[in-house]
Amino acid sequence: MKAPEKYTANRIRAMKGREQIVCLTAYDYATAQLVDAAGIHLILVGDSLAMTVLGYDTTLPVTVEQMLHHTAAAARGVEHALLVADMPFMSYHASTEEGVRNAGRFVKSAGADAVKIEGGASRRALVEQLVDAGIPVLGHIGLTPQSIRTMGGYKVQGKTDPAAEQLLEDARVLNAAGVFAIVLECVPAALGGALREAVDVPIIGIGAGPQCDGQILVFHDILGLFSAFTPKFAKRYAELGDAMKQAFETYRKEVQDGHFPAEEHCF
Ligand code: KIV
Repeated sequence: MKAPEKYTANRIRAMKGREQIVCLTAYDYATAQLVDAAGIHLILVGDSLAMTVLGYDTTLPVTVEQMLHHTAAAARGVEHALLVADMPFMSYHASTEEGVRNAGRFVKSAGADAVKIEGGASRRALVEQLVDAGIPVLGHIGLTPQSIRTMGGYKVQGKTDPAAEQLLEDARVLNAAGVFAIVLECVPAALGGALREAVDVPIIGIGAGPQCDGQILVFHDILGLFSAFTPKFAKRYAELGDAMKQAFETYRKEVQDGHFPAEEHCF
């Protein structure tokens, strides 16, 4: 079978209306290799790694240096998927200039193909300048975990008419500013469909229903690897957490009772 060509931001954008866009997180070389080999179109080095890998309660503490470190590791494992680096909290909030400089580091030194930023209409200037600098941008609206302190918790967004209108406006502004796609997190399913109709770039849903142009999930959630909680929108495709714990226990027992190492493991 011929290997699929590398996915670019333009190619992801052109998939709208043609085929569903499938996206997943990965934060390291080995996982990125597996996700890429599974034919996933877009791999996000999400700031969710603050919680899933680093054990923080929120995504807020993760730093640019930590995100660069994980993005570079994932980049070494990706051949075909579009690799998107998540810009962490406070790496683009103080000024547009700082945002552009930090985004440049993800592309220039960590090997990202694009960056993701959270926020709606207020990010217009930043998106325009990033695109002008040659950096493709993935938007992220709805539930934006970097604003958890002002949102007051991980709640479904866009439930009232004014809130839904605001999200439509945010999507239109990001679209006009030049994003190649928009992540839409945790909104009523009907609103996912409305946003998909409202813009020409793909809407990638996470807890935004089946009418979006694609879906994204955190890989720990679908493999049963994050024990703190599994969000309602994530489906478990495997129970690797249980399988790993069982393997670790078997190893411990075999060392303790003398079954490991056996003859075939010795020189
Ligand atoms: O950080 C992340 O993994 C994300 C996805 C949940 C979209 O932003």
